[in-house]
Amino acid sequence: MTPLPVAELHVHVEGTLEAELLVSLARRNGVALPTYDPVALAGRYRHFTNLQSFLDVYYANLAVLRAEEDFYDLMAAYLRRAAAAGVRRAEVFFDPQTHLNNGIGFETMVNGLSAAAQDAPIAADLILCFLRDLGPEAAEETLRAALPFREHFIGVGLDSAEVGHPPRLFKRVYEMAAGEGLHKVAHAGEEAGPDYVWEALDVLGVERIDHGVRALADPELVARLRAERVPLTVCPLSNLCLKGVSSLSEHPLKAMLDAGLLVTVNSDDPAYFGGHVDDNFAAVRSALSLTDEDLRQLARNSFEASFIDDGEKKRWQDAVDAFPLSQCSAGKPV
Ligand code: HPA
Ligand code: ZN
Repeated sequence: MTPLPVAELHVHVEGTLEAELLVSLARRNGVALPTYDPVALAGRYRHFTNLQSFLDVYYANLAVLRAEEDFYDLMAAYLRRAAAAGVRRAEVFFDPQTHLNNGIGFETMVNGLSAAAQDAPIAADLILCFLRDLGPEAAEETLRAALPFREHFIGVGLDSAEVGHPPRLFKRVYEMAAGEGLHKVAHAGEEAGPDYVWEALDVLGVERIDHGVRALADPELVARLRAERVPLTVCPLSNLCLKGVSSLSEHPLKAMLDAGLLVTVNSDDPAYFGGHVDDNFAAVRSALSLTDEDLRQLARNSFEASFIDDGEKKRWQDAVDAFPLSQCSAGKPV
């Protein structure tokens, strides 16, 4: 049986690096790892205390990505798994600064990632993310270096350590991106408060908020997000792993849906947080007692929030409406 069709709008390609691929790339490129046992490596993946404790492991592992084929293999593996999870459209983040700092050229990464997107069974595009902890000047330099490869990505985003690196610092680079006709999104309200979400909207002019789970603390912000139908790309298993919530039953996803917000469900870094988009759907369905109608709404929202044209959105939403949910456990056949 085919799974519920969804769009995945918040996934970092670097966060899809499964332990098995990490080991095989390390061997292929002669890169030292603390252990070559994928089970032991995967064990280290799950024990995080906050966002930074995850980012430390995530960045260190990326030293194994050296050649175009490495980027190809990483993206191809994600897109294969995403297709099996029901993803029919993927808008995939990549962090060029990490690879540039590892001595990898733009051409190498974007050629590999784009070729895998071209060959994939589902539609996929790339969104270039700036590492906010490296500051606005580095972001501007990165965008300038990326412009010769403009056709390889559809938008810009802002990720990495959030607290202390507010959106307003990145006003100029987002203006540059808008001038290039790029879409604009930003992580905000993952660990920092609603003020970061306000800034992402008002100063950067973003079209979507990545995470945004802390927005609920501010009723005026909730009213704004609802009135303007600003999408929030929520990642439940990520929030659980990084201790944004102490249990999934306390996750604000259902409250956000009930507040009329345009929320979507995504995997963020599936290799690290215990699952892909289907696993996230299954986990919240059970923990939050989501109804079939909630699941359908989340799937419809994902296409509405995506950067595809209106005709395509309508086609996918019709497919969601026609989907026989009663025979399916949110992306997983029962
Ligand atoms: N937040 C910020 N930066 C990130 C994340 C995240 O959840 N995943 C990968 N980079
Ligand atoms: Zn993220």
